Amino acid sequence: MGIFRTKSVEDAIASTDEPGQRLRKSLSAWDLTVFGVGVIIGTGIFVLTGEAAGTRAGPAVALSFVVSGIVCALAALCYAEFASTVPVAGSAYTFSYASLGEVVAWIIGWDLILELALGASTVAVGWSSYAADLLGQTLGLAVPAWLYSATPSPTQPNLIAAAVVLVLTAVLCVGTKTSARFNAVVVGIKLAVVGVVIVAGLFFVKVSNWSPFVPPTGSAGASSTPADPSLWQDLGLPLGTFGVGGILTAAALVFFAFIGFDIVATAAEETKNPQRDVPRGIFGSLAVCTALYVLVSLVVTGMVRYDEISVEAPLANAFRAVGADVVATLISVGTVAGLLTVMMILMLGQSRVLFAMARDRLIPAWFSKVSERTQVPVRITAITGVVVAVVAAVTPISDLAEMVNIGTLFAFVLVSVGVVVLRRTRPDLPRAFRVPWVPVLPIASALAAVVLMGFLPAVSWVRLGIWMALGLLVYLAYGYRHSRLARRPGA
Ligand code: ALA
Repeated sequence: MGIFRTKSVEDAIASTDEPGQRLRKSLSAWDLTVFGVGVIIGTGIFVLTGEAAGTRAGPAVALSFVVSGIVCALAALCYAEFASTVPVAGSAYTFSYASLGEVVAWIIGWDLILELALGASTVAVGWSSYAADLLGQTLGLAVPAWLYSATPSPTQPNLIAAAVVLVLTAVLCVGTKTSARFNAVVVGIKLAVVGVVIVAGLFFVKVSNWSPFVPPTGSAGASSTPADPSLWQDLGLPLGTFGVGGILTAAALVFFAFIGFDIVATAAEETKNPQRDVPRGIFGSLAVCTALYVLVSLVVTGMVRYDEISVEAPLANAFRAVGADVVATLISVGTVAGLLTVMMILMLGQSRVLFAMARDRLIPAWFSKVSERTQVPVRITAITGVVVAVVAAVTPISDLAEMVNIGTLFAFVLVSVGVVVLRRTRPDLPRAFRVPWVPVLPIASALAAVVLMGFLPAVSWVRLGIWMALGLLVYLAYGYRHSRLARRPGA
């Protein structure tokens, strides 16, 4: 059937070489790792750790990071194999076009909008309140609250979030290599701040705060609004907040902190030696971040009891609580700087996925035009920026994060299945990186992602379903007929 037509891997690689649609190959394994760390460390650790420890897991949130990290590492194996076989812009979208067929590829591409564009909007809203807070702390400027509201409305839009997105979009339009340099500087600042949290924080740790390490199920948390029940809970499983179930519920939330390692794969086409460097970039950034997250969460829950932790700005407030105000301000500076690269790379990934979809004519080809001077797909980059800015300006942040998580985990499922399928359909392809124990590990990866999705609220599942149904309609109305594959002689 037409909707399951696949674009051959050779085709996918060949289409990267068309005049006017060629991206510059300028990134190394080091650039990729920096890129990865730049997008991974962000709102997840700086903000969501508080909510996860305070309302779901207590000090055991450190274990939640480990659980989430394991789910990501399993998926990372699959991403690495795909990226090393099909080093073409578009990540999961491109992989699935070569393995599972056009309609699945479209579904993934559509799904990635949740991860990338919605993720960038979410981070922008978080950034705006840190920026406003910092302006108040350092310059004594009282920024009107509606300008950075986490629950904005069309009449009172979050203009700070929108503005930062537009500025970053301009940076991206100037060129990927320039952006990579900018990113490297910001990543340095961010890592320094995380290092300070860990080292300085150790001096304030009270071992008694770690007990109980796993608070019993049903304990009172740090917030008067308890976490939404997860799908598993709605289905009658006794997996509530705190206790072992709480560790897993928290893992589904802090999963946001890992989002981004897969974006390293979206840059494969702009990498000098993708077969070798993309797997290195993915694993390098994932390993560094998991270690830092576990340490940061142990330190913070050791400084402040979990039921007194701040759910808005846990790291800075932990230092304020022990009287180390200078460190607190430093953390705010690092957060403001650090979230810049997160937003930028999420948008970079988004524009590359849409670029690949336009090149395949699943959306109009007009979008895939690459600037002759900078070799950046400027049209799609600019449009992505404007959409992310508008969404950030008018949408409340809270439910967005859960949508981003469920959308990303869904992509993990499809990519994991895709690895098994491509091994069967194209065993001949050179694979610079191979997942061990196929099909056991990819299947474990898909199952792990589904289980984690179940720890998100049922309403996220419903929204995911609606978004996907909408995407399918768009595909049937446009992509199905205009697709390059549909127009091929003999198709
Ligand atoms: N992982 C990124 C963050 O934590 C998206 O902000």
